[in-house]
Amino acid sequence: DARVGNGPETATGPTGTGLTRTGPAGDRPLEERLAEAGLRLEVDGAVATVTLNRPERRNAMTFATWRGLAAIGRSLPDGVRVVVLRGAGPSFSAGIDLSMFSGDGEGFADGSDAEATDRFIAELQEGYTWLRRPEIVTVAAVHGHAIGGGFQLALACDIRVAADDVKFCMKEPALGLVPDLTGTKPLVEIVGIGRALELCLTARTVHAEEAARLGIAEIVVPRDGLDAAVDDLVASLLAVNPGAAVATKRLLWEAPENTLEQQCAAERREQAGRLRDLFGK
Ligand code: CAA
Repeated sequence: DARVGNGPETATGPTGTGLTRTGPAGDRPLEERLAEAGLRLEVDGAVATVTLNRPERRNAMTFATWRGLAAIGRSLPDGVRVVVLRGAGPSFSAGIDLSMFSGDGEGFADGSDAEATDRFIAELQEGYTWLRRPEIVTVAAVHGHAIGGGFQLALACDIRVAADDVKFCMKEPALGLVPDLTGTKPLVEIVGIGRALELCLTARTVHAEEAARLGIAEIVVPRDGLDAAVDDLVASLLAVNPGAAVATKRLLWEAPENTLEQQCAAERREQAGRLRDLFGK
């Protein structure tokens, strides 16, 4: 992802079409475009489930995947309170589709146009940033490999539930790249700068026990219990007052940026809103 597209999506195969910036895909149904991007979206009442759905490629991600994720974020129905991200097949995601680096590089730029590069990567990052919206709680259900862009997608979620076969790896530096899909900030916030440096600059794999210890996964369960654990978590999240959930998520994500004084003020402000909602005339 250091190289950027300067034209329509060019990855070959089923993910190479649709969700282009310039292509004719815009007026086709979202579901169809998502399917082409290797994504599936199911909305069941207050719960949306996004499935990375290219199991034969270990859910490797293309530009279409990231644009598809952004499209899901834009189109999410109002009533959705919890979004679960999961991967079909043996892995959550093997990260960027390496076939995009091969061939003649058509559709890529070399980064020499800094503004175009910036715009391009920002567009791809939109696939991840919506996961922090206060109106929803996002849960990554991670099993098997979560590499590079896959690891960053898990980090973009509020909560990670991992199977005991999970393997997290920030592979980008080993490929000459930096992690640029929003993952560096949550990684540092979760594990601290020293551990984040060690993980990224060795590109080593973190297994389940260490992931739990470092706080990369909030919950670790046996592989065959992953779906049930996610269902339990989702039920608990939905049992909480919706307005309180939104306000509390907003408050907690602001906390690291705020001084104590600012955070106390934010708590007062949010609580005033809650009190108005609960007891106001
Ligand atoms: N891109 C494209 N194809 C991939 C892929 C990827 N990232 N990962 C796996 N596949 C394909 C394999 O080529 C293979 O295809 P064939 O059946 O046609 O041979 C198929 O998926 C199954 O893969 P494996 O047989 O290798 O499955 P495995 O279970 O033995 O190993 C794996 C799984 C450890 C994930 C291994 O496939 C692997 O190391 N993949 C590459 C991971 C990688 O380096 N990703 C880039 C991360 S950096 C990044 O994400 C940058 C960014 O932009 C954010």
